[in-house]
Amino acid sequence: MNAAHALDVDRIRKDFPILSRTVRDGKPLVYLDSGATSQKPTEVLDAERYFYENANAAVHRGAHQLAEEATDAYESARARIAGFVGAAPSDLVFTKNATESLNLAAYSFLNATLKQRQGLALNPGEERFVIDVGDEIVVTEMEHHANLIPWQELCAKTGAVLRWIPLTDEGRLDLDQLDVLITERTKCVSIVHQSNILGTINDVRRVGEYARRVGAVYVVDACQSVPHMPVDVVALGADLVAWSGHKMLGPTGIGCLWGRSETLLAMSPFISGGSMIETVTMMGSTFAKPPARFEAGVPMTAQAVGLAAAVDYLADLGMENVYAHEHSLTGYTIERLLDLPGVRIIGPADDIDRGGAISFVVDDVHSHDVGQVLDDHGVAVRVGHHCAAPTCRRFGVSSTVRASLAVYNDERDIDTMVTAIRDAQRFFGVRV
Ligand code: ALA
Repeated sequence: MNAAHALDVDRIRKDFPILSRTVRDGKPLVYLDSGATSQKPTEVLDAERYFYENANAAVHRGAHQLAEEATDAYESARARIAGFVGAAPSDLVFTKNATESLNLAAYSFLNATLKQRQGLALNPGEERFVIDVGDEIVVTEMEHHANLIPWQELCAKTGAVLRWIPLTDEGRLDLDQLDVLITERTKCVSIVHQSNILGTINDVRRVGEYARRVGAVYVVDACQSVPHMPVDVVALGADLVAWSGHKMLGPTGIGCLWGRSETLLAMSPFISGGSMIETVTMMGSTFAKPPARFEAGVPMTAQAVGLAAAVDYLADLGMENVYAHEHSLTGYTIERLLDLPGVRIIGPADDIDRGGAISFVVDDVHSHDVGQVLDDHGVAVRVGHHCAAPTCRRFGVSSTVRASLAVYNDERDIDTMVTAIRDAQRFFGVRV
């Protein structure tokens, strides 16, 4: 990584109109919920508006000028987003969000399995996706529900067995048993890069070596990493990598699935209709090459254009600088929380291999109550199980408070949160 330059947070904040509003009777907004969804800079808002005002048309259809300009805008967005993660544009599929990307991955196994069981011809390479009863899918105990439930559903429908990599008490993957967990029976390993609840950054390359050794398809959920650090999807060593646009300063309604060319070529679509076809007769259809194969219907064009503006914005800041800024702020947040009696961090309590999603509980005060007092101070955090209920259970809590950071946060935001936590403790009589 190159030497990082400090970010000018005051200047960055001016790019995000929403950050200048007040909440709860005039309190300045302190937005610490970017893990749920990030705020959007003017560049992204303007790009979407410009598209609708100047080039709006359905892409890959129509012979008119607007259709051509809309198609160019959509495909140029794909190229810029692919470039941001070191990928070829033809290997980048647009989806609605990361949840859809992960479902696409899981349904590729179901499709291949049903085709095989009915004696239908498979695509070249699709055998890798065929599940026999008793085959195994491996996830981790820190998955977001979006990278857990699609695999549970796949197991229920095919007779596969779900296994998972357990966690240490510190909130890291316990990799000691990898060779017992990932075996010849393993058809797929799907793990999160950075946990949305614990903040842990996993060694995805190491897990990938085990997956590759047994020929399993390897899927990485990079939702919480791509927005916050330089990520080269090819270098991760995965077959498929999923992430969403709205957590990386882009619009809602757009996600990405990168895949190795040969992996995408092997996969069958799970949404079908216009645009994804090669030939259609009343007797049946054949499908286009990726990425079109997985983009049925009129795609989310303005959202792709907005997401391209977001990656341009992040690239201008420099992802090394984004990472360095958020890493240092993560360390500061942890230090401040560790100084508070009665506050316990759920997840690694240091800044090593962890990102800026910092969960904590306050002794004897329910997380929702903490969240409400924070909100009274203008501090927006997420409370609850963070769509990672099994992870909460692993740490003996039903919910946590989670502060999650982005480029527009700095130490002042953390100081305001810490003051508000102290107030919550005073209000609920657990500390004087
Ligand atoms: N997945 C998002 C979160 O972690 C919504 O909050």
